[in-house]
Amino acid sequence: MVSLKNLLVVLAVSASSFAIPFSSREDGQFKASIYQKLPAPPAGWERDDSVKLDKDSFMVKLRIHLVQQGMKKFHDLAMKIATPGHELYGGHLAQHVIDSMIAPKQESKDLVLEWLDTEGLRSHAEVSPRSDSIIVEASLEQIEKLLKAEYSKFVRPESGDSAVRTLEYSLPDILKGHVDMVQPTTFFGLRAMKSTIKEVTMNIEDNIAANKINTAASPAAVKGCNSNSITPICLANLYNFASDTTNQTVGRMGIAGFLEQHPIQSDLKTFMNKYAYFDNKNETYSCELINGGTCPATDVTNNIVEANLDVQYARAITQNIPNVYYSTGGRPPWLGSGGNTNEPYLEFLNYLLALDDDSLPNTMSISYGDDEATVPIDYANTCCDLFAQLGARGVSILVASGDSGVGNSCKVDGKAQFTTAFPAACPWVTTVGGTTGTSPEGTWSDGGGGFSEIFGRPSYQNDTVNTWLETDTTHTAISKYFNSSGRAYPDVSAQAMNFLVVLLGSAAGVSGTSAACPTFASVVQLLNSDRLASGKKPLGFLNPWLYGEGAKGMNDITTGRITGCSGSISGAGFSAVAGWDPATGLGSPNYGSLLAISRATA
Ligand SMILES: *[C@@H]1O[C@H](CO)[C@@H](O)[C@H](O)[C@H]1NC(C)=O
Ligand SMILES: *[C@@H]1O[C@H](CO)[C@@H](O)[C@H](O)[C@H]1NC(C)=O
Ligand SMILES: *[C@@H]1O[C@H](CO)[C@@H](O)[C@H](O)[C@H]1NC(C)=O
Ligand SMILES: *[C@@H]1O[C@H](CO)[C@@H](O)[C@H](O)[C@H]1NC(C)=O
Repeated sequence: MVSLKNLLVVLAVSASSFAIPFSSREDGQFKASIYQKLPAPPAGWERDDSVKLDKDSFMVKLRIHLVQQGMKKFHDLAMKIATPGHELYGGHLAQHVIDSMIAPKQESKDLVLEWLDTEGLRSHAEVSPRSDSIIVEASLEQIEKLLKAEYSKFVRPESGDSAVRTLEYSLPDILKGHVDMVQPTTFFGLRAMKSTIKEVTMNIEDNIAANKINTAASPAAVKGCNSNSITPICLANLYNFASDTTNQTVGRMGIAGFLEQHPIQSDLKTFMNKYAYFDNKNETYSCELINGGTCPATDVTNNIVEANLDVQYARAITQNIPNVYYSTGGRPPWLGSGGNTNEPYLEFLNYLLALDDDSLPNTMSISYGDDEATVPIDYANTCCDLFAQLGARGVSILVASGDSGVGNSCKVDGKAQFTTAFPAACPWVTTVGGTTGTSPEGTWSDGGGGFSEIFGRPSYQNDTVNTWLETDTTHTAISKYFNSSGRAYPDVSAQAMNFLVVLLGSAAGVSGTSAACPTFASVVQLLNSDRLASGKKPLGFLNPWLYGEGAKGMNDITTGRITGCSGSISGAGFSAVAGWDPATGLGSPNYGSLLAISRATA
C-alpha cells in the first residue's frame, strides 16, 4: 500500500520568496471571484441533507492543478511516438522528460503558496511529486472558507453512489492563468459501465456442456458460442486467439477498479477451473492499492460484479501474463469523523504516472465512466492530458464506451442532443463499443457511440471519419443532434452481452461495454506481451496504429445500430456500415491478423 507520504514531497521553497502586488488584496485577503458554478447537480444526483457532515473533522485532500506550459508541444510529440513509420515511433518517454516539457511556471506555484499562506493553510500544503499540483489537506470547514464554497453530501439513488461536493467555488483573481482546476469540488464521479446485470443463476455444469460443443440450432455458430452466454472459449474462437500456441508470460495486464469494487478469489478459481481456455487455470491476480483502496479476497462490500467480470475475463484471456487489479479508494465513510473525500480518478492516474517504467502495466482496462456533460471541462482536460502522458510512457489504455447508446434522455441544457461519455471521449484513449451475436457479429444496440462535445477530432481519425461523414447516408436526418467536429468514438468494439461470470459461486450473465473493454484490452495485452518477448517496444497509445495498419486486423461490423433517447427522437441512433462507424468503430479484433500486423510493425 502506498501512503500519501510516498506520493508527496515536502516543499522547500519559502512562501515569502514571491510577493503578490498589494492591489490584488482587499483587507489582507486576495480579491476572489466565482471560478465555477453549476446551476444544479448533474442529472441523477441529488442533495442529501439527512446526514449532517461534521465539517470540522471531515478531512479533504484538495488538488489545485497548475496551468502547464508546453502541453501542445508535448501532444505533438506524443502523437509522433504513437504513429508507425515516424522516426520517433516507439520512443516512449520517461516521466521526468515529460514533466520538464510541461512544467508549470515557478510563478504559478509561488502565487498559490502565498495565497495559502495568507489563508493560514501553508503548513497543510505540499507540492505534488511532479510539481503540477499543490495538494492541501485540511478540514472541510477550512476548505469551504478557502474556496468560498459550501459542500454538501450528494447521492445518486440509481447507483447508490455518494459524494461530498460543492456546486460553486471561488478563486483569487490573481490566480487566473496559473490554476486550471481545483478538485474535489464540482466533479461528481464516475460509475461502472455495466447496465443490464442479469444475475440469472445457471447450472454451471450444464453451461459448460453447452459451451464446449457446437449447438446444432445455429449452424453458422462459432465453436463454443451459444445464444445464451459468452465464455472465454467462445471468445477464443470468435476472435481467433484459439490457434495461438505460444505461451505468453511477460509483461503486465492492468485492470482498473473504483467504487469499492473488488474481485473474489474463490470465484476466479471456480471460473478458471470451469471456463479457462488456455492452460492457465492456476493463474490469479495481484492487487495494488491506491489512495486507500481495498482488495479483500472475499465478499465484504457487495460491490463485486464489475470487478469479477473484469478480472475473470482478463485473467482467462491473457494466458500466463501477470494481472494487476488497481483498486483506487476515494469514498468517505459517512458516519463518524475523519472522512476523506478525494477525487479517485486523478489519484489513480497520478499514481500510475509516478511508477517507474518497469512497474507500469502495458495495457489498462477501464470499465468506468460518466456522461461527458456532467464532467467539468477543466477536469476532463486535466484527466485527458494525464492519459496522453500514460500513452507516451508506453501504456495502451482501453475504456468502455458506455451502455446508453446515443444517450438516455438526449437533453442537454434543454436542447435535444445525443449525449456522450467520459473518459470514452478523450482522444488519448482507445474506446471500446459493444457487439452481440456471432453469425454475423452485429451491433449491441446499447453500446455507447458518438462525437465529443469537449474534444475536437484528432488527426489519426480525420480521414476515416471524413469518409464516413461523406459516404454514410444513414445519419443525414440526425446530424443536428451531434457535432461532427468532435472526437468520434468508439474506436473498436467487442462482445458485450451475456458474459458468463461466477458470482459468489454461481454462474450469472452480465452485459455492458464493461465486458467488451477487458476483452479487447486482453487481446491488446497479448500483442504487447508478444512484442516484449521479441525485444520490441509495447504498442503504447494505440489509435494511430489502429486507424492505420491495425484496421486491417479487425472484423468489420456492418449490421445493427446503436439507439437511445426518449420523447420525440426516441430510437434515433447510428448504424453499423462498411468501414468505421460511430456504432462499432473499426470493428472487433482478429487476434491472428493483429498479431501478424503487430509483428510487422517496427
Ligand atoms: C507458461 O509459462 C509459465 C511461466 O514460465 C509456466 O508456469 C507455465 O507452466 C507455462 N505453461 C505452458 C502451457 O507451457
Ligand atoms: C495447478 O495446481 C494444481 C494444484 O496445486 C496442480 O496439481 C496442477 O498441476 C497445477 N496446474 C498447472 C497447469 O500448473
Ligand atoms: C463543434 O465542435 C468544434 C470542435 O470541438 C467546436 O469548435 C465548435 O464550436 C462546435 N460547434 C458547436 C455548434 O457546438
Ligand atoms: C481534416 O480533414 C479536413 C477535411 O478534409 C481538412 O481540411 C483538415 O486539414 C484535416 N485535418 C488534419 C489535422 O488532418
